[in-house]
Amino acid sequence: MDKMMITGGRPLKGTVKVSGAKNAALPAIAACLLAPGKNILRNIPRLRDVDTIRKIMTQLGVEFTDHDGFIEVDAGTVKGYAAPYELVKTMRASILLLGPLLARSGRAKISLPGGCAIGERPVNLHLKALAAMGADLYLEHGYVNARSSGLKGTTIFFDIPTVTGTENIMMAAVTAHGNTIIKNAAKEPEIKDLAEMLRSMGAFIEGDGTDTISIQGTSGLKPAEHFVIPDRIEAGTFAIAAAMTGGDVTIEKCRPEHLTAVIEKVEASGAKVIQNEDSLSVKGPSTIESVDVKTMPFPGFPTDLQAQFMACMCIAKGWSMIRETIFENRFIHVSELKRMGAVIEINGNQALVKGQNQLQGAPVMATDLRASASLVLAGLVAGGTTEVHRIYHLDRGYEALEKKFAALGASIWREKV
Ligand code: EPZ
Repeated sequence: MDKMMITGGRPLKGTVKVSGAKNAALPAIAACLLAPGKNILRNIPRLRDVDTIRKIMTQLGVEFTDHDGFIEVDAGTVKGYAAPYELVKTMRASILLLGPLLARSGRAKISLPGGCAIGERPVNLHLKALAAMGADLYLEHGYVNARSSGLKGTTIFFDIPTVTGTENIMMAAVTAHGNTIIKNAAKEPEIKDLAEMLRSMGAFIEGDGTDTISIQGTSGLKPAEHFVIPDRIEAGTFAIAAAMTGGDVTIEKCRPEHLTAVIEKVEASGAKVIQNEDSLSVKGPSTIESVDVKTMPFPGFPTDLQAQFMACMCIAKGWSMIRETIFENRFIHVSELKRMGAVIEINGNQALVKGQNQLQGAPVMATDLRASASLVLAGLVAGGTTEVHRIYHLDRGYEALEKKFAALGASIWREKV
């Protein structure tokens, strides 16, 4: 196991390139199951979660070949239908294999993801929707067992705009008999990106990016070539880091239109933000203003940047209220930030943060992907050295983060524990 070491106090300066989006890469890779043949996927980030879904799909008979700048995914023959617990437990997004496997082979056996640090993470909405499309599903020994002799299009209403739930049904519906309408669909950019890929495979999809997606089932999808969108959460992480270190950073290869709510809050904290076609420049203020934040589904402030923004508010002038409305337990980073001198009071899904002049470096423990990013950001501004333990969480969703921060002037390095 590695730990991340950070000596704080250096403003970040320079330019950084954002990698492909983890949460667009995972559904894109899963979608390759829908058609026999070789798909070309570009801008796929090098992450543990990508390695995990590749391992699961390789066991299903899919062949992955790495090339310079792209990967080839050959789903010519799909010989299995099970995603085992040993792999699924490390990445709950494996549930994304359920829809495409049912569509392709009529059979799927996916370990229930189980909860994770940030919450129970149920998949009831996925299962209810697939059952409405005619799948037979039953839960046994911690696995979802699903069969279908041919999915049928229908109208699905999601009680909650679930991101992977929307993606699962899109992938199940593109080859179903008849039309499917998804109401209260998620509107995240990753949904539009998956729809783009499915259309390039020959699917008929409209309304992606709105709360109503209509899909006309078709047969004979073909393999595709797809370039995955940049990671808006990584870009947002760098924007917040630039603001809180009083730095001056240009974040390249990103899509500012995916970060409207985040840019608004970073500007409210006193930073100057210049938006270009595919880059953001962020100049941090000498003192951070306190800003209230409430996480919401896209286009609201993303829950995946809540912990990072909280780290920024820990050194703001005054009080800020942070409300987490998406997950029931996404404040685990709070106790670790308090070890660094932060003053935060939790009341249900609200955290009241009293900004401090400075945080102190300390040994802290990462508990989930975005909480670990929050602790790294806190380390960048803390006096002294911070050790972030269990950074395998970080490696699930950030590609070479310490190298990118070091290139911006941070004093950050990995050590073996
Ligand atoms: C996706 O998770 C992302 N993961 C998450 O990113 C992100 O935080 C989340 O969307 C919200 O934006 C991927 O895309 C791989 P949801 P997902 O279904 O799809 C409840 C990261 O750090 N719900 O939109 O699992 C659920 O409990 C990860 O990259 C049900 O009740 O999230 C939550 O409260 C973390 N029943 C809410 O809906 C269901 O069947 C939104 O969850 C499904 C979800």
